[in-house]
Amino acid sequence: MQEQGFTLWFTGLSGAGKTTISQRVGEHLRQQGKKVEILDGDIVRQHLTRDLGFSKADRDENIYRIGFVAHLLCRNGVYVLVAAISPYADARQKVREMIGRNFLEIYVNSPLAVCEARDVKGLYKKARAGEIKHFTGIDDPYEPPTNPDLECRTDRETIEESVRKVLQLLALRAGQKHEILLR
Ligand code: ADX
Repeated sequence: MQEQGFTLWFTGLSGAGKTTISQRVGEHLRQQGKKVEILDGDIVRQHLTRDLGFSKADRDENIYRIGFVAHLLCRNGVYVLVAAISPYADARQKVREMIGRNFLEIYVNSPLAVCEARDVKGLYKKARAGEIKHFTGIDDPYEPPTNPDLECRTDRETIEESVRKVLQLLALRAGQKHEILLR
């Protein structure tokens, strides 16, 4: 019987740590022999969704397309790690319904002030200057998950702690504690 896949959906503000955590989790899972694909908003938007902008309709379409690809991969035994702001709760809920019980929503939560202070890509500065419009957290909404499967407070915990929490959750859900747990 084919092993079941999972979709780990990392949602949160730009700069909260979605990409970093998903990459580290991916490395651990690959080391354990899992098939892993990472669907990162910044990369997906250069390919699958390069026609889309940042209106609600376009963001929803972005999330739907990512979710559809995740669904196909996930049902074929792949561990799919999605790192996308995914600011709208209804879009995340639709994806959860499409993928089913192997969907895990992980809220990568860092306060706006911390993300903005880090400003890894310099985009918050541009948004504050009005050079980028509709930037999430500045002049565009982010609807936090009300009941995420896991929350990583990346302003208070280290990357290693967040990664460990994700792997533990996965181990619990996959019922394969010994295989997946970080040692
Ligand atoms: S989502 O809202 O549709 O889920 P996604 O994660 O794919 O967003 O893309 C977000 C990335 O696009 C950010 O990390 C940032 O690099 C870039 N970006 C450019 N413009 C915006 C904007 N207006 N709001 C948010 N991110 C933006």
